[in-house]
This record gives sequence, structure tokens and C-alpha cells, in this order.
Amino acid sequence: MIANQTFPLASKQLSRWQKSFEKAAASSKFRKFLMNQVRVDNKKPTASHAAEIVDLVRSDLVSMDERMLEYALGWEFASYKHLQAGVYLQIADFARFHPDELVVELGVGCGNLFATLGRPKLLGIDINPYALELAHSRLAGIGLMPTIYPDSEVLVNPFFGLSLTPVPIRDKLNLDGVNLVCDNILTFANTVEILKSNGVKADCIVFILFGGRSLHTTIELVERNPSTDLHETERILRDGSKICRKGGRIIFGIRQISLDPKELSLTSVQPFNSDALFRKYRSQVTLHRQTSIDLIREDSRSGIAISVPSLNPQVLPESAHAYKLLLIEAIVK
Ligand SMILES: C[S@@+](CC[C@H](N)C(=O)[O-])C[C@H]1O[C@@H](n2cnc3c(N)ncnc32)[C@H](O)[C@@H]1O
Repeated sequence: MIANQTFPLASKQLSRWQKSFEKAAASSKFRKFLMNQVRVDNKKPTASHAAEIVDLVRSDLVSMDERMLEYALGWEFASYKHLQAGVYLQIADFARFHPDELVVELGVGCGNLFATLGRPKLLGIDINPYALELAHSRLAGIGLMPTIYPDSEVLVNPFFGLSLTPVPIRDKLNLDGVNLVCDNILTFANTVEILKSNGVKADCIVFILFGGRSLHTTIELVERNPSTDLHETERILRDGSKICRKGGRIIFGIRQISLDPKELSLTSVQPFNSDALFRKYRSQVTLHRQTSIDLIREDSRSGIAISVPSLNPQVLPESAHAYKLLLIEAIVK
């Protein structure tokens, strides 16, 4: 783990969010969202409700910043335990990455998969600037010389109200090196643009060990639809070809737990029916192979809140005894 980490880049984001928030909150687009999408006691908000909502969101920006820092540090702790347990090595073994492949990791976290691969041609995206900065230190520490673009701001989004939006990148990135970029898995907007400006697509997309609470994409108080892991998995199956070339691969690593000690079959943390999903997206991707590896147990102390359907969403039930990572390789058509 990285000792005495400071966050010169991530800690600048809060003032950027605050400035952009004031502009967004004053816009007619946001007023329109409040009137059309938000209801207070089943009625359109009055001017004083609207002012109250804006005040609440304004004060939530500081706690969003704190939550992001806490999450990134918590994940660094949990991720280090996975690293020590050899999980990233097993993922790399399963994926059989080719040295020349351009690999894009969606939700790169603290960069431990990339550190395990230890080679260039890696693009890691994450919405959390603290995670990106931890990944930067980790990869710089082993001589990979990553570039980092952690900036995001608060913009009006017609579906979510106010949404944390990655700042578009104007520089042309060198995709033969390691790049760490702020982007949202739900849109891939920056990733699509970066690849387009280089005239390439990824050879392989990696989406592993997701399933912590996705608390980073929308500002909770004005959020309409909370996103779920299933949404993200589905979106990657549906839209993966926007960033991955034909014949390229998507590697999923999906957490699973067994809830009943007497029951041997595993239930995924979020219901994950690979047969049904791959049937649904059969014109876009083919399931090529899958396996399951052991996973150490994480707990919410280490920043990971596991959602278990119909149980307390933040607590891993005591009856959970087996903890697995389902690895899937899919081919983009
Ligand atoms: C549990 S960590 C996994 C990190 C990494 N894949 C690994 O295996 O170490 C999930 C990461 O996804 C990021 N994340 C969550 N929601 C996101 C979103 N909508 N867009 C981009 N990144 C997101 C989080 O900030 C976090 O760093």
C-alpha cells in the first residue's frame, strides 16, 4: 500500500465542482428538470422548495468529496488484500493478455491490475479522482510513467438532474503508454473520444471487482434512478463495441457469494444470469468461456458495501460462506 499519499490533483476537484454547480443550479435547464422530474408531496416544487433543494445539494458536495476519498482509501486497503491473495494474477492468467494489446479497464480503482500486468498500452478510467491519483502513484512507483486526467464538474443532466461529468480531454493521448482518465462507465464519453482521436479501438475491455456502491455518478439528492451493477454490466455488453474492436474481448470479473451454508449453488451479489444476458445481447457479443476463482471476503470497513438483493444492502450476511469471482471472457462481434 502507498504510505503518506497526498492528493494534489484530486483535492482540487471540490472547488471545481462547487463553481460548476453554482452555474448549473442557476440554469434554466436545471429549473426545467426540477419542475418536470422532481415532486414534493406529489406536487411540483415551489420556489422555496427549489431553493432548499439547491442548498441541500450544495452542502452535499463537500460530503461527496469526503465519500470519494473514503471510498478510494477503503478500496486501496481491500484491493491490496486481493493483490496479496493473488487475485489480480489469476485474473491476468485467465485473460491471457497479449503484450501488444491495448487494454481499457473500466473502474480502474487503485491500479492493481495494471501494476500486475506491468506493461504499457493501458487506459484506465474511473470517476473517482482520488482513486485515479492512487493508481497514478502506484504505477509511477513501478516506473510506468502514467499520465493522469482526473477533472470532472457538475453539469445538468436531463435524467439525473445534477450529475458529476468528466471534463472532455483536449490533448491527444499516447495510447502506447499508460493513461488514467476521469470517465463515467455509464457513458464512456471521454474514452470514445480518446480512442476516436487516435483512430483505434481497444483490443480488450476489463470490468472486474465492481459491485461496491456506485455512489459517484450522480449527486444523490437530485438523483432519479440509482444505477445498479446490472445496468453497468448490461451497458458494457450493449455498448462495448463503441470502445472495443470487432473480435476484441471483454473480461468481466463479477463477485458472487453463497448465502446459504447448506446450499452449494452460488448466488451473485447482484443477480447475474449470464445465459439470459448473453442471449439478450447476442448480436453484440458472444460468451466465449468462464470460470470461477476464490475471493477473500471484503467488509464494509474496507469501503466496500455489497448489495445483496432483499437483504440489508450494506451488510454481508453472516451466512455468506463462499466468496467467488466469476470470470467471463466475451468476444465482441
Ligand atoms: C471496487 S473498485 C474496482 C477497481 C478495479 N477494477 C480493481 O479491480 O481493483 C470499483 C471502481 O469503479 C469506480 N466507479 C464506480 N462507479 C463508476 C462509474 N459510474 N464510472 C466510472 N468509475 C466508477 C469506483 O470509483 C472504483 O474505483
